[in-house]
Amino acid sequence: MKKLCLLGLAIGLASHSVLADTQPAPLQSKDAFVSNLLKQMTLDEKIGQLRLISIGPEMPRELIRKEIAAGNIGGTFNSITRPENRPMQDAAMRSRLKIPMFFAYDVIHGHRTIFPIPLALASSWDMDAIGLSGRVAAKEAAADSLDLTFAPMVDISRDPRWGRTSEGFGEDTYLVSRIAKVMVKAYQGSGLIGADNIMASVKHFALYGAVEGGRDYNTVDMSPVKMYQDYLPPYRAAIDAGAGGVMVALNSINGIPATANLWLMQDLLRKEWGFKGLAVSDHGAIFELIKHGVARDGREAAKLAIKAGIDMSMNDTLYGKELPGLLKSGEIQQSDIDNAVREVLGAKFDMGLFRDPYLRIGKAENDPADPYAEDRLHRAEARDVARRSLVLLENKNQTLPLSKSAKIVLVGPLAKAPIDMMGSWAAAGKPAQSVSLFDGMTRALGDQAKLTYARGANITSDKNVVGYLNFLNFDAPEVVDDPRSAQVMIDEAVKAAQQADVVVAAVGESRGMSHESSSRTDLNIPSSQRDLINALKATGKPLVLVLMNGRPLTISHEKEQADAILETWFSGTEGGNAISDVLFGDYNPSGKLPISFPRSVGQIPTYYNHLSIGRPFTPGKPGNYTSQYFDETTGPLYPFGYGLSYTDFSLSDMALSSTTLNKTGKIDASVTVKNTGKRDGETVVQLYIQDVTGSMIRPIKELKNFQKIMLKAGEQHVVHFTIDEDDLKFYNTQLKYAAEPGKFNVQIGLDSENVTQQSFELL
Ligand code: NOJ
Repeated sequence: MKKLCLLGLAIGLASHSVLADTQPAPLQSKDAFVSNLLKQMTLDEKIGQLRLISIGPEMPRELIRKEIAAGNIGGTFNSITRPENRPMQDAAMRSRLKIPMFFAYDVIHGHRTIFPIPLALASSWDMDAIGLSGRVAAKEAAADSLDLTFAPMVDISRDPRWGRTSEGFGEDTYLVSRIAKVMVKAYQGSGLIGADNIMASVKHFALYGAVEGGRDYNTVDMSPVKMYQDYLPPYRAAIDAGAGGVMVALNSINGIPATANLWLMQDLLRKEWGFKGLAVSDHGAIFELIKHGVARDGREAAKLAIKAGIDMSMNDTLYGKELPGLLKSGEIQQSDIDNAVREVLGAKFDMGLFRDPYLRIGKAENDPADPYAEDRLHRAEARDVARRSLVLLENKNQTLPLSKSAKIVLVGPLAKAPIDMMGSWAAAGKPAQSVSLFDGMTRALGDQAKLTYARGANITSDKNVVGYLNFLNFDAPEVVDDPRSAQVMIDEAVKAAQQADVVVAAVGESRGMSHESSSRTDLNIPSSQRDLINALKATGKPLVLVLMNGRPLTISHEKEQADAILETWFSGTEGGNAISDVLFGDYNPSGKLPISFPRSVGQIPTYYNHLSIGRPFTPGKPGNYTSQYFDETTGPLYPFGYGLSYTDFSLSDMALSSTTLNKTGKIDASVTVKNTGKRDGETVVQLYIQDVTGSMIRPIKELKNFQKIMLKAGEQHVVHFTIDEDDLKFYNTQLKYAAEPGKFNVQIGLDSENVTQQSFELL
């Protein structure tokens, strides 16, 4: 951990002197400045500020600059270099009031250096590592003139059919909330106004991860208790951590689209939570109110959105077209528009742009000659974070780590796949700069390399799926088939396997399979790759599966077949090196799953912290008349919090400092953790609590705390957790957040299922 912190400092984690910076010298306060500016603005200039446009390669730059100079655009996204953005800011400086533009982008898991996808970051359970990834991303994005990111995405996802599961931090409210806070602080630094910092806009507000059946853009119908208890806390954590923006979700909530949802945007976000920042719509969401069937036409859509409190409209023209008429007819008030403009100006003030519109754009003479220059990357940080995010799922007979002198054959369509290694939403990452598994292993083996390679299979043999995945990649398709027949490829791989000591198969999904608009009904590894695995298994050689995927897959069969399975998700620019570090034992894996793995799609949802049920299934007893599926083993294939190491850990002597707790008191829960194996290693000690009896049904357990600790071989350590009344509170049927007296079970384990338990009474 020491190394990580040092790296963090080197790239500027040290705090900035914010106080001196936060107040632009000539201005007294944000409110006074914004009100004063607002008074000088015409209606057109105000409405112009509400427009956020996407800059595509095909767009007429000159026209855009003209529009900006006329005061018709407030900000852009997808223009991501200083030379691109400087002329736009110059145009803004030619506008009547010289209101600066801001420049945004989807910086989700890195900017030029791509870190592991968010689901992988969450698998590290390492807040320093996650924070470092966000800090590097902010620094690199700011150096490319960006002011704002549409991140973090903190949607709780419990249905892995949803392709955007990859972009979130998993299924658990507590873990995701902790990460939400870390990410906001990492992006925004110790003061947003710093030139190295960018504004975070948390998304997708709200409940996007709960879309029906995991179908993207779909509806959400949810009880208020479930919202408050399980789905809303991560957004709130991000806002409490100071997120300057919120992106509003595309889904509806209990019949009202989020974009038109007065309860969500006003009662909850603004009044109850006190959010004072910028609310941005998602792409085209105002127009989609017509498709949702809550607005007759564009005019009504614009009215609903501005009334709800959507400050900026992303990539549609309805505000510009409709707000003047709506104002004239008295259907909306001047204050509706002014409130939105105030937030846009306020955000620009917070970003430091009124003080210096070129804060992140800098001077032309300092522009990087090559935005992709190697020395702009943070490879060491990316490699370290990536290896912390890998999860060892199986390791029969200590198949891993591999000996560097073994004869290894590397197979699979993901073995030489630098694009997929980056994962989706790879911002400004360049595939040629990302390290494939083949390259990583070759480098690790150096001169002694006895590594052979055979592709073995295409990602999928379904041409329609390939067409779907390549739909938007006109110039260079991402999924490129090897034209040879499946059998020829398998035969080649089998032949190579027969001559090797061990087979490493890089299999799973292409990155586009776990993305926006990539919902799946089938979570198996595609059949082309399963045929390959079957053939490799038949050789009798030890088989190591290196999984690359953006969501839990259904791998019951592969669990039986493989000697070892390493879940690597999509691990970013340095993925190939990081995975090799683990495969060859240069790093001992320590990741834990932030989401449960179902055995089959029919079993979804499988999240661990479900509510207690009247007829629960008891393992080892007949299942009749209990809550389960009779044709499937009950419970997940791999539970939340699970992950192996090359060493072993034992837990003993769990103790509570008291068997009673009063409302102002504290209990110490402790456990002795021992590294009983032969290697040094890290593990995550997890604390779960169950509220046994309450005024309403409570979950069977909930994560309440965790500690990631490093122990040398043979070393032991007593881990302590403090429990107080706050850890026991929940939202009751009246949405009152309070703890109820009674019995609580405290469980400590190295995953959510294998735990030791003690109890206490809240008085
Ligand atoms: C649509 C996505 O839903 C959102 O997450 C993203 O930020 C915007 N497009 C902008 O790219």
